[in-house]
Amino acid sequence: MLDRPSFVAADPTPSRRGSAKPALLSVDDAKAMSVETMADLFKDHINPGQFHFMKLLGFHKVKIERAEGMYYTDQTGRRILDFFGGFGSLAHGHNHPRVLAARERFQEERRHEIAIAFLSQYAAALAKNLAACSPGALDMVFLGSTGSEAMEAAIKVAERASGRKACKIVHAENSFHGKSKGVLSLTDSPLYQGDFQLVGNRYKVPFGDLEALKRVIENDSDVGVVVLETVQGGGGIIGAPTAYWQGLRALCDRHNVLWVADEVQCGYGRTGKFYAFEHHGVVPDVTALAKSLGAGKAAVGAMIATRDVYMKAYGTPKTAMIHAQATFGGIGEACVTAIEGLNVLYDEDLIGNSAETGAYLLARLQAIQAKYPQIIKEVRGQGLMIGLEFQDFSRTLPLALRPMVAVLDDKLKGSLSGFIGALLLKDYNVLVAFTEYNRNVIRLEPPLICGESHVDEFCDALDALLARGIVSIVKDFVKSQLG
Ligand SMILES: Cc1ncc(COP(=O)(O)O)c(C=O)c1O
Repeated sequence: MLDRPSFVAADPTPSRRGSAKPALLSVDDAKAMSVETMADLFKDHINPGQFHFMKLLGFHKVKIERAEGMYYTDQTGRRILDFFGGFGSLAHGHNHPRVLAARERFQEERRHEIAIAFLSQYAAALAKNLAACSPGALDMVFLGSTGSEAMEAAIKVAERASGRKACKIVHAENSFHGKSKGVLSLTDSPLYQGDFQLVGNRYKVPFGDLEALKRVIENDSDVGVVVLETVQGGGGIIGAPTAYWQGLRALCDRHNVLWVADEVQCGYGRTGKFYAFEHHGVVPDVTALAKSLGAGKAAVGAMIATRDVYMKAYGTPKTAMIHAQATFGGIGEACVTAIEGLNVLYDEDLIGNSAETGAYLLARLQAIQAKYPQIIKEVRGQGLMIGLEFQDFSRTLPLALRPMVAVLDDKLKGSLSGFIGALLLKDYNVLVAFTEYNRNVIRLEPPLICGESHVDEFCDALDALLARGIVSIVKDFVKSQLG
């Protein structure tokens, strides 16, 4: 048993009817919890292994007390600049006042939440808004709670509409489409796929390789669906040129194959257009959004399909319920949040800001790269979805430092991004994100309200840290682990 003298929940209270209340913590207990107790409870009840990584990065010492706009405030009053943005989940920043006000009104009016019995005016309006934001015939909307759920819906609608009895699906190397059991087969990660039984009806091709895609489609007429992130997030912010997307569209049309664009991370204005595929003048048959769709306050995911695709899959009373929304699909306050979020996105021109401030961020990072070419390998991306790739220094590390680094965790060995991320947080009060498949890449996905002054704050911090040089960065990181 862990010793938590400052924090003991009440003993179970006996009840007359026999359902004794367990030793439950209250909301006030949660609010007052010390950072040490948070850590203990995380290890006891959530994920002890993950805590190990949180500790390496210094997250175990931080209790967030407030979050507004571009900043978190921790228990010591320190403000932390958010250049992580929940992997693209915080387009509006933290606690946008208009989003809060819409939610408060909804609560005051005692509106209903569950939308699977009566029709919901809010689910209807959100679906209409998403159709209005989507080009071409992308008009039919399935509402859920997560990106994985939206992608599950996307794969299913496309598979049914493809017209193949034994439909096969093509996905890309280094893809990430979620971890739920269906999309897991299309998420190219040995770690996540582990020893799970995966679906067999799939092909994997290199991302951005039209010839490889063509070979697969031309050699197997059962291929009915191609699923791709428009910009690979977990792969390390990897895009493909316009010629690829136009070639893909033409190829799919020629072979009657449906294209599903996963825009869960790169959509919602992140790259400077509402959808990233809009940079390339093409429209997919099915797409998916989540993350920022919930305006940083709610869990909302959506699949958006062309009417033709939707009607082929579920267009009759007999097929309509095959994939109708789940319990929380179209839930009231989440829909209100998403409706207000979309209005804010356009009223405040956050998409234009993403393009403009993103270009400024890219230019400043390129200047920093030119200053430290031995540390930064590449800076890439569009809008406020930027990848910062560091040189892999596992082999070039000075001999004297190797024993020091060897004692570190496998995940961090040779990964400058881990050291730099941890020190940016500890010494400069800046939060950045790491990357699933490429440990040398830091992902920068700040809220779309980010201004030039925030970019300067971030870039000045990065510049000052890199000026220490690799040897000091490694030593300072190792020292931080001992403290
Ligand atoms: C491109 C992409 N698709 C799907 C998902 C899954 O979303 P969720 O974590 O909300 O299930 C993610 C999450 O990071 C993602 O980046």
